[in-house]
Amino acid sequence: MTKQRYTITTALPYANGPLHLGHVAGVYIPADIYVRYLRAKNEDVIFIGGTDEHGVPITIKAKNEGVTPQQVVDKYHNIIDDSLKQLGITLDIFSKTTSKTHYKTASDLFKKLEGEGAFTEEVTEQYYDEENKQFLADRYITGTCPHCANEKAYGDQCEKCGTTLNATDLINPRSALSGNKPVLKQTKHWFLPLDHHEEWLKTWILEGHQDWKSNVYGQCKSWLEAGLHPRAITRDLDWGIPVPVAGGEGKVLYVWFDAPIGYISFTQELLANDKNRKWEDYWKKDGKSKLIHFIGKDNIVFHCIIFPSMLKLFGDYILPDNVPANEFLNLEGDKFSTSGNWAVWLHEFLADFPDKTDVLRYTLCSNMPETKDADFTWKDFQAKNNNELADNLGNFVNRAFVLTHKFFNGFVPALANLKEIDENTLEQAKEFNGTISESLNKYRFREALSELMKLSSLGNKYLADTEPWKIKDNPERVGTILRVALEIAAKISVLGSPFLPETSQKISSWLGISNKEWSDAERNLLLTNGFVIATTPQLLFSKIEDDVIAAQLEKLKASKLAVQQAKVSAAPQKENVSFEDFSKMDIRVGTIIEAEKVPKTAKLLKLKIDTGIDQRTVVSGIAEHYNPEDIIGKQVSILVNLAPRNIKGIESQGMILMAENSKGELAFVSPEKVIDNGGGVR
Ligand code: MF3
Ligand code: ZN
Repeated sequence: MTKQRYTITTALPYANGPLHLGHVAGVYIPADIYVRYLRAKNEDVIFIGGTDEHGVPITIKAKNEGVTPQQVVDKYHNIIDDSLKQLGITLDIFSKTTSKTHYKTASDLFKKLEGEGAFTEEVTEQYYDEENKQFLADRYITGTCPHCANEKAYGDQCEKCGTTLNATDLINPRSALSGNKPVLKQTKHWFLPLDHHEEWLKTWILEGHQDWKSNVYGQCKSWLEAGLHPRAITRDLDWGIPVPVAGGEGKVLYVWFDAPIGYISFTQELLANDKNRKWEDYWKKDGKSKLIHFIGKDNIVFHCIIFPSMLKLFGDYILPDNVPANEFLNLEGDKFSTSGNWAVWLHEFLADFPDKTDVLRYTLCSNMPETKDADFTWKDFQAKNNNELADNLGNFVNRAFVLTHKFFNGFVPALANLKEIDENTLEQAKEFNGTISESLNKYRFREALSELMKLSSLGNKYLADTEPWKIKDNPERVGTILRVALEIAAKISVLGSPFLPETSQKISSWLGISNKEWSDAERNLLLTNGFVIATTPQLLFSKIEDDVIAAQLEKLKASKLAVQQAKVSAAPQKENVSFEDFSKMDIRVGTIIEAEKVPKTAKLLKLKIDTGIDQRTVVSGIAEHYNPEDIIGKQVSILVNLAPRNIKGIESQGMILMAENSKGELAFVSPEKVIDNGGGVR
C-alpha cells in the first residue's frame, strides 16, 4: 500500500515575545497529536514550523528595548524553539522568516506573480512623519478615538472601545516616533485583487469543503458573502523583505504576504540535502500531498482565502485539504494578553514543572478550544493531574505492574482459561483503536483523549471486578487477570502516544514493546509471555499540592500588577522644548485654604490657594478624585502665570498640577516635605 503524504504546518508565531499556553493549546498540541498519530500509522509526514519575524509589532518592540529588530527576533526565536522542543513538539524544522532561503523564495514568488500581472497597483494617501522622513504604519499613529474619545487610540484600533479604525479616522493624530502631527502623502502599493478570486473560492470552500469545522466554514462563508476586495501586499517600512521590482525602493512585502510562504521555504530548507525526498513532493499537485494548516481563529481568513489565492497563482501548487482552526484559550477567565502580562509563559511553565509536560499536554488537550473559547485555570490543571492522570490512568498502570511484580516477580504471565469477563474486556479494549482513530480523523482531539481515558477506566473497573489480590491458591487465574490488565496498559501506551508521549514511552519501555505501530493495537495481544518487566514500578504521575497552585496564582497577579504600574509612562514623548521655553512657566508651591464644589458640575472644584504671592481662586477638574473637606491644608504645585481663564463663570487664576495613572486616577504633585508657600518648582 502506498503511503499518503502529508504537509502539516503550524502558524508561525511572531518573534516579539515568548509563547504562552494559548499558542500551545490552539496550534502546537493539536498539530503534534495529529502528526504523531500519522507517524504511528506509518504515513509520510513533514511537520513544519518557525517564527514570523517581520511586521510592525517587532519594530515597535525593538524600539522600546533600544535594540535592532534582528536582535529581538533572534532572542525570541531561540526561546520559542527551546520551549517547543522541551514540550515534545516533534516539528521536523523550526525555521525563521529572516532566513536566506525564505527571502529568496518569497521574492521570487512575488516577482513571478508581478511579472504575470497578477497584482494591481494603486496610489493612496498615507500618514508621513516629516521629521523622521518616513511613512507611518497604523500602529505608529495615535490620536483620539472618534467613538469613545480615548486619547490613546491607535491608527488601526481603539483598545478602549475595541473599534477597528483607519488611521485617518483619528482626531488629532500624532506620530508615535516624533509626537508631531503627521501629514498625508501619496504612496504606491501593490494589491492582491482578491475580488478576482471570489468565484473559485466560493465553489472550492462553500461547495467543496463542507467537511471543514463549522467555526472555520462559517467564517469563510461570511467573508465570501460580504464580497472580497483588493488587499495591499506591500508596506512602506524598513523591516521586511524588500519589494523586488522596479518602484519598490524603500518598501517591503506585507508580513502576511511573506509569512505563509515560509511554510514552503522551510520545506525547501528541510529537504535541501535529502536524497529521497524533494520539497516539491509536498507542495506541487503531482506530489499528491495533503496540506493541513493548524492555526488559531484570528488566522482563518489568511489561510483559507488569501494564501490559497496566492497558491493558485503560484501555479501547480496544492491547496489546503483542511484548516482545523481553534478558538481561543482564556486564562482564569480573562483573555491572554502579552502586553498586559496576563499569561502563563510556556518556558516559565517548563522551568517550574519540568516533569509535567505530559500533564500540560493532557490539560490543554482535554480542554482544547475546539469549537468555542475555553479557559485554563490552575485549579483545573491540578485537578486533572490529581484526579484524572494520577488517580485513573496512573493508578491503573501502577496496580498492574505492582501486582505482576508481587505475584510473578515481573514475568509477563500467560492467558489461560479465559472467563467471560476476560473476553469481554479484551473485546471492548480492541474497539478503542477504531474510536480514537475516528475522532482524530475528524480533528476531534478532546473526544479522542476522553476515549483514551475510558480505556484506562475499563482497566480499573476490570481489576476492581476481578480482585486478583484476593484470589488464593490459583496462580493461573491471577496470571490471566494480570495479563489482561497488562495488555490494556500496553494498548494505552500505543494509543496514548500522540497525547502523552513521555508516559507512553515509559510504559512501553517497561513492557518491552517500544516501536509498536498504531495498527498493532488492534491485535488482541501486544505482549510476549515470560517477558520480564523492567525494574520496580514507578509512579507515572505525582500529585500536585495546593501550595504549588497558590504560588502560581500569586505570580500571575503580581506580574499583572507590575505592568499596570509601569503603563503610566507609556504615552509617547512630546516634542522637545528649549530650557527657555520651560523657564517661562512659573510653578510654585501653594496651600489649599478653601475648597468647594462648583454647582451643577461633576468634575470641578473651586479652590482658594495661598501662593505666597497672594490668595487666589483656581478652578480644578478634580471633584471625582477628592472631597473638598479632605484637601484643605494640602500643599500642591500651581502654575501661577497661566493666563486667567473663565470656567463656568469663575475666573481661574492658575492651574494645579496633577499626576495621572493608567486608570485615569489623579493625584496632587506635592512637595515631599513642607516648603514655604511661593517656593519655586523647577
Ligand atoms: N504571526 C501570525 C500570528 O501570530 C501567524 C502567521 S501564520 C503564517 O497571528 F501563515 F503567516 F505563517
Ligand atoms: Zn474608542
